Amino acid sequence: MSPSAYVFPIVSSTSIFKADIFKGKVLFCTGGGSGICRGMTEAIMRHGANATIVGRKLDRLTQAAKELSEATGQVCVPAQADVRQPNTLKEAVTKTIEKFGRIDFVICGAAGNFLAPISAISENAFKTVMEIDTIGTFNTIKATIAHVRASKGSYIHVSATLHYNGTPYQVHVSAAKAGIDALSAVLAVEEGPHGVRSNVIAPGPISGTEGMDRLGPKAPTTRQPGYPAGREGDVKDIANAAVFLFSDAASYITGQVLPVDGGSEHLREGF
Ligand code: HXC
Repeated sequence: MSPSAYVFPIVSSTSIFKADIFKGKVLFCTGGGSGICRGMTEAIMRHGANATIVGRKLDRLTQAAKELSEATGQVCVPAQADVRQPNTLKEAVTKTIEKFGRIDFVICGAAGNFLAPISAISENAFKTVMEIDTIGTFNTIKATIAHVRASKGSYIHVSATLHYNGTPYQVHVSAAKAGIDALSAVLAVEEGPHGVRSNVIAPGPISGTEGMDRLGPKAPTTRQPGYPAGREGDVKDIANAAVFLFSDAASYITGQVLPVDGGSEHLREGF
């Protein structure tokens, strides 16, 4: 599947949540130009928020922002930045504040992935994923926290379930996602008294995404192929979880990791 194949509205406009629950709110989403993060952005915009989507590829971001605005009737701004470079993130935050005046919600979703065994992965390849996923999340928190405090807002970090056990060829991502889980817990504890919440969504295998395409059928796994929920996950499953976690319905939920994987992480080989 080509990268452009992931770029289309994917979240249904029907929702069990009221349409205006995020009216007047602003989302800042790294990795929002495609895949799961684009789907979460679309769902949050469909409930009344405006958004900035952040990524490295300006042409993809610009196209996604246009489509998201048209699909939702809200305003979506593309901001080119590399989460490994704090100054570019700060520029994206400044652009957001100049356009919308506030940031209520942050999704730390920028990530990199490929399959590589620990015996062969290069030092630089391991470091690259740590820098994009874990340090990129830290940089995003640093760049946004003052504004999220001001709005008593909320963070969602995109992690995974693969580091709960040893997943072959995923040493870099496993280490990086474990770090993200830890970052979110500290953020929740330190910023809770300021009215800020921080939670993690841990997607399982989600069909139709670049991540799944890169790993999917080729990836060795410690888990059974069957899904307790009886189906593979879909981007809208992650999007619905994000709407819930940002909504007032989750106002007493912080510092948590929410696996959205149809129960797959509970399966073990030979079980
Ligand atoms: C081994 C690889 C590699 C591969 C890159 N490298 N691809 N090593 N196998 N397939 C190595 C390179 O050789 C280099 O090391 C180092 O990684 C940096 O590579 P660059 O290409 O210079 O880096 P960069 O351009 O920044 O690319 C970053 C990337 C890239 C992570 C390597 O693939 C990327 O940006 N991907 C983003 C899209 C993506 O993967 N999205 C899905 C995330 S899914 P050397 O030693 O040669 O210098 C996800 C969910 C997980 O995270 C859970 C799923 C169930």
